[in-house]
Amino acid sequence: MKPVRKAVFPVAGLGTRILPATKAMPKEMLPVVDKPLIQYAVEEAREAGIEQMIFVTGRGKGALEDHFDISYELEATMTARGKSLDPLAGTRFPAGAVVSVRQQAPLGLGHAVWCAREIVGDEPFAVLLPDDLMVGKPGCLAQMVEAYGRVGGNIVCAQEVPAERTASYGIITPGARDGRLTEVMGLVEKPKPEEAPSNLGVVGRYILQPEIMPILGQIGKGAGGEIQLTDGMAALIGEQPFHGVTFDGERHDCGDARGFVLANLALGLARDDLAPAIRAFLAETGGG
Ligand code: UTP
Repeated sequence: MKPVRKAVFPVAGLGTRILPATKAMPKEMLPVVDKPLIQYAVEEAREAGIEQMIFVTGRGKGALEDHFDISYELEATMTARGKSLDPLAGTRFPAGAVVSVRQQAPLGLGHAVWCAREIVGDEPFAVLLPDDLMVGKPGCLAQMVEAYGRVGGNIVCAQEVPAERTASYGIITPGARDGRLTEVMGLVEKPKPEEAPSNLGVVGRYILQPEIMPILGQIGKGAGGEIQLTDGMAALIGEQPFHGVTFDGERHDCGDARGFVLANLALGLARDDLAPAIRAFLAETGGG
């Protein structure tokens, strides 16, 4: 079984659910507490053993590449002023470890993943959607890589979603269950609640086999007029092992204001230096 060494970060979406924040700034640069979303995802990938990070970007996303580049001016000035460079530690990579490719038009998540096909090559790869902020120990992708070591094939992160919200997710037709592992018998993108095969949704982490790439190149537009990753994955079911892993941890959907604010509160409350001030504020304003 080939190890998972590469991760694709599709970051070419328009982020319309959290406008105006994302008008001139990539959604993935939104900070939760003091770190941009993309850095949480990249750190999670690194923890899971990923060696190469592949960003699928679009116009106006240059800040994402700059974030993982050396900022000579900043570092020289900080050093001259005797300031520690420790806060920049998670942004530094060996040359070639972060690469990017353009998605020229936002045709959908499936199309974004397909844009990375030449860099992925003939090996399994992970996909991480940075607006799904996953908090757990070990991290979400590490938990999935552990499951991959046991069952191989394709793995998605699965989460029970409210029955009335199935139309916001890819939904799994579940087969045999074994602890946190569920066999995936079918996948359907954004079904209405009355048509959903379950309320087990796919959230933003995947381990996929390279055979999905030619499929993504061939399938047409699906739900919402976009080329859907779910439709490409559905074509692999029955051909290769396919499982969902229920993540042991917390997920924050930072793609809209509600999830974004709650993520800031949750991660702020988890910090010893910030929690007392947040608790005091909530108590004062009647929210604690
Ligand atoms: P979303 O469904 O969150 O879409 O995409 P979006 O455009 O980012 O945001 P909204 O819905 O307009 O607010 C899920 C992931 O797929 C990427 C996004 O960047 C995000 O990480 N994506 C989506 C692309 O890279 N390209 C696309 O064409 C569509």
